[in-house]
Amino acid sequence: MNKTSVKKHNICVIGAGYVGLVAAACFSKLGHKVVCVDNNLDKISALRKGKVPNYEPGLDLIIKNSVRKSLLYFSDSIQSGVKQAQVIFLAVGTPSRPNGEADLTALEKVAFEIAKNLDSYKVIVEKSTVPAQTGIKIKKTIQRYAKKNIEFDVASNPEFLREGSAVSDFLKPDRIVIGVESKKAEGILRSLYSGIKAPLLVTDINTAELIKHASNSFLATKISFANALSLVCEKTGADIDKVSQGMGLDQRIGKGFLKAGVGFGGSCFPKDVDAFIHLSKKVGYDFKLLTEVRNINRQQRMRFVEKIKEELWILKDKVIAILGLSFKPDTDDLREAPALYIIDMLKKEGAILRAYDPQALLKAKKILDKVELVDSPYKAIKGADCLALITEWDEFKNLNFTKIKKSMRLPLIVDGRNIYDRKHLEKLGFKYIGMGR
Ligand code: UDX
Ligand code: UDX
Repeated sequence: MNKTSVKKHNICVIGAGYVGLVAAACFSKLGHKVVCVDNNLDKISALRKGKVPNYEPGLDLIIKNSVRKSLLYFSDSIQSGVKQAQVIFLAVGTPSRPNGEADLTALEKVAFEIAKNLDSYKVIVEKSTVPAQTGIKIKKTIQRYAKKNIEFDVASNPEFLREGSAVSDFLKPDRIVIGVESKKAEGILRSLYSGIKAPLLVTDINTAELIKHASNSFLATKISFANALSLVCEKTGADIDKVSQGMGLDQRIGKGFLKAGVGFGGSCFPKDVDAFIHLSKKVGYDFKLLTEVRNINRQQRMRFVEKIKEELWILKDKVIAILGLSFKPDTDDLREAPALYIIDMLKKEGAILRAYDPQALLKAKKILDKVELVDSPYKAIKGADCLALITEWDEFKNLNFTKIKKSMRLPLIVDGRNIYDRKHLEKLGFKYIGMGR
């Protein structure tokens, strides 16, 4: 990062969620002056006290430093945020409607607020994931409600941040995509990112919007492909991890996102695949490939539960220890977490559930009932008939299995992420079941 060459801009990020907060913090780390706005007052007052609402490695330190240098502050007023900024990022939520379509209500509301407060030229940039052609709608909304003679540009700059590594994904990205309609907006966005070394692709707005949906849908397709393969591996005696490794070494395929397991969750893949299917349908294309990606993902969770049932037969009153609740390691995020679906199925079978997660217990307490949440993996496992590994936190990789063997009622491990060594566990006397191996 070359800080000296960065031209400093005044930025407003609207939405202090997983994405907005990381973007705001990282822009301030690059030396820009950033106000991060959110309509959730509790969130803003917590942030003002230095409390970061989501667990994201490295984020709290950047926020602390930037706040100290007066490069970052928090506000609940779009009005003051907009007035001070030349570049406004939209990072409010774009959740799914029941039919899979992206719900853009918050985005429209914010566009309206920006229009009312537009007092000079500004670039309004979509950061939230949105269907293609949303930029056009945002532009029309702002044109409709802004004072007639004020110039502005709309742009798209999709984020490719993974939770748990969002800070480094932002500061060291594979690529930066900007969708623009004018040279002026392009110049401003280029200079905003001039402190970051990465290929920068400039497109029109629709294309930039589509790149995001296409990227996430393709990554989800890779995962579902690996998961479908895992079933074939089981039936043929092959090992899915080795198959993925063998495929991934081919640079044309790439080794990422070929890990089989209980499937993908999180706030993006499930929602974005749904939204992309919906958008395609709307423009006359039935994207059956993606419908199947979604089906395979659902089936994986069911297969995991079936594996437990196959061993324990009747689950009523059997004690199952759940290790890992968050949708992946290094985050406390439970949105669309496979664990929640699996817990639901196990509950319906009458199983007694005890769960542990290194970071997500607080959030889990608010949404889970009839699950005993405990503060150590060993407490969850004690007296259990099955250890069900759902999220591959590092903490679970080096457990004391000699101790665990003695404390379980039945020495059964169903490993939803293939993190354990079968031979080692079998030697200790466990029955080990993985996914596709
Ligand atoms: C959001 C989008 O949902 C996702 O599609 C996109 O890729 C990135 O931005 P995320 O940051 O994970 O994802 O959402 P969330 O954590 O729900 O944060 C949204 C924030 O916007 C919340 O803090 C919410 O309070 C705030 N918000 C929402 C506003 O400030 N104003 C509104 O009108 C609505
Ligand atoms: C994703 C995209 O990677 C990111 O670019 C985008 O901006 C937001 O959505 P995120 O949801 O944070 O990021 O997590 P990611 O690491 O991509 O994992 C998503 C899900 O896929 C997790 O549930 C994970 O466990 C699962 N996964 C991932 C697999 O099951 N197998 C894999 O090989 C990789």
